[in-house]
Amino acid sequence: MTRSSEIPGFYRRSIAERRAAVREWAGLSEDEARAFEFPPGVDPATFDRMIENVIGVMPIPLGIATNFRINGADYLVPMAIEEPSVVAAASNAAKVARSSGGFFAQTTAPVMIGQVQILDVPDPVAARLRVLDRKDELLAAANAKDPVLVKFGGGAKDLDVRILPSARGTMVVVHLLVDARDAGGMNAVNTMCEALAPEFARLTGGRSVLRIISNLAVHRLARAHATFPADRLKTETASGAEVVDAILDAYALAVADPFRCATHNKGIMNGISSVVIATGNDFRAIESGAHSYAAWRAGESDAATVILPLTTYEKDKNGDLVGSIEVPAPVGLVGGATAVHPTAKANVKVLGVKTARELGQVLAAVGLAQNFAALRALATEGIQRGHMELHARNLAASVGARPDEVDRVVERLVKERQIRFDRAKEVLDELRRGSAG
Ligand code: MEV
Repeated sequence: MTRSSEIPGFYRRSIAERRAAVREWAGLSEDEARAFEFPPGVDPATFDRMIENVIGVMPIPLGIATNFRINGADYLVPMAIEEPSVVAAASNAAKVARSSGGFFAQTTAPVMIGQVQILDVPDPVAARLRVLDRKDELLAAANAKDPVLVKFGGGAKDLDVRILPSARGTMVVVHLLVDARDAGGMNAVNTMCEALAPEFARLTGGRSVLRIISNLAVHRLARAHATFPADRLKTETASGAEVVDAILDAYALAVADPFRCATHNKGIMNGISSVVIATGNDFRAIESGAHSYAAWRAGESDAATVILPLTTYEKDKNGDLVGSIEVPAPVGLVGGATAVHPTAKANVKVLGVKTARELGQVLAAVGLAQNFAALRALATEGIQRGHMELHARNLAASVGARPDEVDRVVERLVKERQIRFDRAKEVLDELRRGSAG
């Protein structure tokens, strides 16, 4: 019998029933299906309310980055990520920065952009002015939709009207600028855009279609800078000054070449996204915002490239390396998964941040730390050495090494520089034959 993915009423079933159906579909053993189970202390009902068709959880490792000092205060930073070496690299970089005072971070006001698309406007230039003429009234109407946000000092603060040529004719796009305070802003912004759209359509004489937040959060930025002293960067074979120059060379390639820039910025997001995930925030929004900001900045500059690094490196008068970062940080502490996910709540408490802006500052510092660590490794010993041991450890476990065998398998693989599944299997067999004989 062929299997059908059409399962009537799947969404109405209990978690256990859905899981049983999926187990049968995939032919999972009881042990395999156990991987979906909820850990103790997590109420399945909470997760069942968060998304649809829930069958369980997908845990990823949660590590703590140490050594972070930001604006004079110490932080332990929870990072949720599946990739080895990231947490260690962030901690090491933070230790280097700490020796010169740590990270100094700041944010802009937490202003998000909502977009309303208006089509078929006969006179877009005059229509733009008609909307701007009514700005105060329109902002008041938007704010009436969220009195709580207004009470906390947030709400709709400004309007901008853009006229865009497109493949489907000229469009008028209204930007509503909303201070989201400690929220991510998605709900407040979308509600306001939907409420104002009919009035925008009336004023412009067109018809409104899309009404949605923009993830290119150019008004909600987090920035950080830190000094990495040259004398902390020397290796067995290179002086600190040489390492500083090698990092500047690596950075210059990211500025000049989109192929390198993509990887450079990916490394930054290793740090930022892991904290975003650990705090229950929307990591797709942050990723999308970061990469589009990197492209947007290239467009705004006179650089002959399509994307720029989110970080900048310079050498100061002492020959030390100074790193800076600027990224959109549309994260929240109230609402969303942050408010209900038990691990996210515990992580926010560990982090100790009191406002979304403070969380943004942590993100910027971690992104800079992560990027510095990657560039330092790439410019000196290469990235693989740090990765190797953890990777070898995973391989040893996946070929079936028992806890008392893992260390010996790892040691051999690292020594031989052969971090491969087939070799791990051979090493384990050899080891077992050796101890049997
Ligand atoms: C790997 O996840 C991230 C790096 O590739 C970043 C970089 O190359 O800068 C190491």
